[in-house]
Amino acid sequence: MSKATNIHWHDGDITRDERWGALGCKGCTLWFTGLSASGKSTIACALEQALVNRKVNCYRLDGDNVRHGLNNNLGFSADDRAENIRRIGEVAKLFADAGCVTLTSFISPYRADRDKARATHDAGKLAFYEIFVDTPIEVCEQRDPKGLYKKARAGQIKGFTGIDDPYEAPSKPELVLKPADYDVAEAVRRCVAFLEDKGVIKKA
Ligand code: ADX
Repeated sequence: MSKATNIHWHDGDITRDERWGALGCKGCTLWFTGLSASGKSTIACALEQALVNRKVNCYRLDGDNVRHGLNNNLGFSADDRAENIRRIGEVAKLFADAGCVTLTSFISPYRADRDKARATHDAGKLAFYEIFVDTPIEVCEQRDPKGLYKKARAGQIKGFTGIDDPYEAPSKPELVLKPADYDVAEAVRRCVAFLEDKGVIKKA
C-alpha cells in the first residue's frame, strides 16, 4: 500500500517483449531461501558464474550484501525482516522485468513474506521460482562460517533464525536443493537443468 497520494502509473513506450527481444534475454527471479550457512550464497555465486559463462544476463542480490546498503536501516525483528523481503521482492521484480535472471539469497524465513514476493511477481507476469536450500540446522551449525550460531547459542545474538526465531520451510518450492548430500557443482547443475527445463535459458 503506497503512502503517497496523487501518484499515477506511467507506462513506457516499449513492451517487455521488445526489450527482451532486443537484448536476447528472458528475466525471472530465482528465490533462494534457507537457514544461515545453508549454502544459498555459495550456490548463487557458482550459478551466477555458470550463467555468465553461457552469456546469460544475470545478477545476484545477497542478504548480507544488501543489508550493507539499500537495507542498512533494517535489523532482524519480524517487521524488519518483512520489510527486507518486501524491498528485495520489489527490486528483484525490477531486475527480472529488465531481462535479468535474478538470483536472490536471503534467509527469508517467513512464508507469508516470500508469498508476497511471489505475488508481486505474479502481478507483473514475471516468473518466480522458489528454491529451498534444505540443509539441516545441525549441518549449518557445524559449518558456522561466521561463528553466529555459536554466538546465538551463547545468548549473544537474540532472535537468530533456527535457534530462537523460526524458519518456515516452503510448502511448494519449485526446486529443492540438498547441499549436505552433494557438492556445489551438482547443485548448480540442478539449477541450470531447471532453468533449461523452464525455457529460461537455452539447452547447452
Ligand atoms: S532475513 O531473515 O531478513 O531474510 P538476511 O538473509 O537478509 O535475513 O540476512 C541474514 C544474514 O544476517 C545471516 O546470514 C547472518 O550472517 C546475519 N544475521 C545477523 N543476525 C541474524 C539473525 N538474528 N538471524 C539470522 N541471521 C542473522
